Amino acid sequence: MKKLKVFSTVLVFSFLFILSACGTSQNGSQSSGSQKTDAKKTLRVVTDASYAPFEYMDKGQIVGFDVDFVNAVAKEAGYKVNIENVGWDPLFVEIKGKTADIGMSAITINDERKQTYDFSSPYFLSTNMILVPKGSSIKSADDLKGKVVAVQNGTTGQAVVENILGKNSPNVKKFENNNLAIMELKDGGASAVVADNTVVEAYAKNNPSDKLKTISDTKNFAKEYYGLMFPKGSKLEADFNKAIGKVLNDGTYAKIYKQWFKTNPDLKTLKA
Ligand code: ARG
Repeated sequence: MKKLKVFSTVLVFSFLFILSACGTSQNGSQSSGSQKTDAKKTLRVVTDASYAPFEYMDKGQIVGFDVDFVNAVAKEAGYKVNIENVGWDPLFVEIKGKTADIGMSAITINDERKQTYDFSSPYFLSTNMILVPKGSSIKSADDLKGKVVAVQNGTTGQAVVENILGKNSPNVKKFENNNLAIMELKDGGASAVVADNTVVEAYAKNNPSDKLKTISDTKNFAKEYYGLMFPKGSKLEADFNKAIGKVLNDGTYAKIYKQWFKTNPDLKTLKA
């Protein structure tokens, strides 16, 4: 009789133990925050990593302001990202064909692109700028008339130069990426490059031996805003806009901005 009592007590305890163990493991998986994130899919982000300081290759890695920005925003929105350097023209093909989720490449939001793509809210203010050799006689965009100008194909830089030189002007030399356009300038095949101000300013500053300088022209070159680009109708836009708002307001954006540009951002410029 006594034996039986001991036996049943052991049985009851082991039963309780198993029950509680089940409970813990279930709770464990439910309460782990990363589990929720893991369930969300990894987004394919495509870029043209030849546009320092926004996106460029460094020791085999894609780095830059945009990279840190998209990582912060995606994390806030609960997604993982996989960034691939596909090149500028292919990036647009991929987003149009919905084979990628996000285009991230210092992409200017404009009406023409909005017909084919969706954009996030603006995250960076930019304008085109002229890059010339230090001794150049070019002082403004109007001085580009009659000169050979190198641009990256399919950029707003190409568009603003064509506004001045004419749409099919043979004097506009178009390159697959901006580094090739700058190389053409250094090789003497062009008198100027036109691209985003932050990019040409950083290039002139970081490559003093190339002896280049930048020229701004607010009369000819309008303000532009960068956005993340989505396939038309993408469900990500709402999530990402919410996350961008958060990242702008909670100091994350300012931290990333300061890391890359050594100064504080003027967030008012983005609320245009
Ligand atoms: N902001 C310009 C545009 O959207 C140039 C962007 C080029 N970006 C790049 N990663 N190559 O047309």
